[in-house]
This record gives sequence, C-alpha cells and structure tokens, in this order.
Amino acid sequence: MLQRLGRVTSTNDVLRDQARAGAPEWTTVVAEEQTAGRGREGRAWASPPGNLFLSVLLRPAFEPQSVGVLPLLVGVAVAEACTSLGALARLKWPNDVVVGERKLGGILVEAASSGGRVEFVVAGIGVNLCATGATLPEELRDVATSLEAESGRRYEVDDAAEVVLGRIRVWYDRLASEGQAIVLSAWRALAVPWWGRRVEVISGGNRVEGQAVGIDDAGALLLLDATGREMRVVAGDARALRLSRSPE
Ligand code: BTN
Repeated sequence: MLQRLGRVTSTNDVLRDQARAGAPEWTTVVAEEQTAGRGREGRAWASPPGNLFLSVLLRPAFEPQSVGVLPLLVGVAVAEACTSLGALARLKWPNDVVVGERKLGGILVEAASSGGRVEFVVAGIGVNLCATGATLPEELRDVATSLEAESGRRYEVDDAAEVVLGRIRVWYDRLASEGQAIVLSAWRALAVPWWGRRVEVISGGNRVEGQAVGIDDAGALLLLDATGREMRVVAGDARALRLSRSPE
C-alpha cells in the first residue's frame, strides 16, 4: 500500500486522484521530489530531493464537523515521530512542527465530503530530513531546520516514513477507541506554550490579534480581544508577538 514515486507535482494531488478512483484507506504515496508541493494558506512547499514528502489516505467514518481534529492528530503523530528520531519537536498552532522557532515539518490535511458525509481525507506531511543548508532555498535556511541538523543523523526517506505512519496509526486507533479528547490533550501537551501571550493570526489576508488562551474542542485557536471578548480562529498562520519595551 506504500507507493514510492520519483518526481510528482504534489503527493496530495496524486493521492486525491487515487482516492476518487476508490483507493483503500491507508494508501500511502511517498515521492522523491515535488514540483508543485503545496503548503497551508495557498503557499508553496519547497520540495527538493532528500526530504520526506508523504501523503496518506484516511476514510474516517465520523461526521464532517469532527474532521477538524485530524490535522491536530497528524501534528501530534509527526511531532512524536520526529522526537523519537532525535529532534525535540513541538507544535505551533495549528500543526507546524517546530524545534525552537525553526520549522521542521508541515502538514496539509485536505478533506472531500459529499451528501453530508466525509468521503476521504488526504493527510500530506513534509519533514526536512537533510541539513537545511544543503537543500532548501536560501530564504528558508534561517527559519527552517531538519532532522539531520537537530539529531546529527541522516535519515532515509523510507525509515522516516515508517516511523511517521506508525505514529499516525497509533493516534487514529486512539481516536476511534478513546475519542477526540485524548487527541486534544496530547496536542495541548506538545504545543508551544503561547497561553497568556499576544498572538497574531493571518488568515485569508485578514489579521487578528489577541491574547492566546487555548484551543477549543474543534481545534480552533481561542484569543481574547482588548475588551476580553473571546474570538475563535479556525485557520491561518499564527505567531507570538514579542513584548514591546516601554519607553525609558
Ligand atoms: C505547511 O504549509 O506547513 C504544510 C506543508 C505540507 C507539505 C506536504 S509535503 C507532502 C504533501 N504534498 C504537498 O503538496 N504538501 C504536503
């Protein structure tokens, strides 16, 4: 069920086509290189050979409104996989896999539903395996890191894929047997501890800012505005704001 491909546009696109044609759950595509790798918020995902580009097909039996937990679940699985491979990874809402302030991996979960039910979910995962200076574009080198840079070890794509898939299976089984509260609590334990800090989120060209207080049961980020009113943010790119110094 694991297909190793050479150069593709995007593993998510390849797997989406297979899903539409009836591929079974857990069909997995790993590519050596992507020519049109996609990230969240419509961004490109730099995809030079040597890194992990993996998409796995899920066919969850639950309601479309419960799909929101899956990006968090995959984030937990990938962060745990990276930590077991020697990089102390945490999660930046919603599911950026980071070490300190540097990005180690990213997750793009895309769902298709019809007639009120989820048809399939494609979970796409990118993890930088190689020392970032060697392969990533210049502009990403200061903001990205890799398993090699963090652990001092070079990982083969197949080995990293196996560990990531293993953790996704563990968490998918736990979701089925124990419910989504267990996933949310694992996510909270791995999250970059922003709570109480000012955070800005850019989503679809709009910016919101507030004090981060947590995530709700659907995985939305909860911020308090200046009047103490709670705002719920369902998607976007978030960053903690540095405290401004008071004038001396
Ligand atoms: C992000 O913006 O952080 C998400 C990046 C997701 C990248 C992975 S690589 C495998 C899969 N195929 C894609 O085109 N994107 C995802």
